[in-house]
Amino acid sequence: MPEPKEAMAHAVLKTKEEIHTMREGGKRLFYILQCLKELVVHGERSGAVLDEKAKELAKKYDGAPSFKGYKGYPANLCVSVNDEVVHGVPHDKVINEGDLLKLDFGFWYNGLCTDSAVTLPAGRCLKRDMKLIAVTEKALYAGINKAWERNQMGDIGYAIQSYVEGEGFSVVRELVGHGVGRDIHEPPQIPNYGSKKQGIALKKGMTLALEPMVNSGGSKVFFEEDGWTVKTVDGGHSAHFEHTIAITEGGPIILTKE
Ligand code: MF3
Ligand code: CO
Repeated sequence: MPEPKEAMAHAVLKTKEEIHTMREGGKRLFYILQCLKELVVHGERSGAVLDEKAKELAKKYDGAPSFKGYKGYPANLCVSVNDEVVHGVPHDKVINEGDLLKLDFGFWYNGLCTDSAVTLPAGRCLKRDMKLIAVTEKALYAGINKAWERNQMGDIGYAIQSYVEGEGFSVVRELVGHGVGRDIHEPPQIPNYGSKKQGIALKKGMTLALEPMVNSGGSKVFFEEDGWTVKTVDGGHSAHFEHTIAITEGGPIILTKE
């Protein structure tokens, strides 16, 4: 996810046909993430292996990984553990039993891309981490439920932030969700915080990657020396869920699911 910028360009609206293609790509991305999760459940603990599998699976599903080479990103998949929030580079990463693991993958399919992320425990993890996972996933759905035409961007951010803070956790503010489809990151930006009835109007044809990043402690994050890995300042654990959705006349449709 990009860092927030002041300037707000116009959203890239998609046709019904484009949304249909992204739905098909999103389904395939869902299966890819399911396979990667299965590998972890069955004991895979190497980031490099997961990265290679992600690449193979993208090919198997007739598409390609989208992150590799984007602004110089060196891998196919993002693998982040514990206090790493997002954009962890999988090479040489050893995942330990009990780690809180985030897998984030972007997928090109027929010229359009979708983006999705999940958090899961590597084996058994702390009870507090399990709560963090559950709250972050619910926060994503709280945001998606506000993605209706005639609502505003702040309605999404407010729904996410108020739910997360009510559960005693914090939302990351230095990174945001984004438009997605013809490019990996498109306008508009989607903060995981905000106020009701603020921000740009939501429109039919928007395809958006909503991605709450939720910290167990404080909300502050920093970038590691590798230029990619984002970590919590206080060392608290962080969870991340992401879906690509489309706003239609009949409400939000999740594209990155079965
Ligand atoms: N899923 C991340 C995002 O939402 C991926 C960006 S990593 C990059 O924006 F490598 F592509 F930059
Ligand atoms: Co994203």
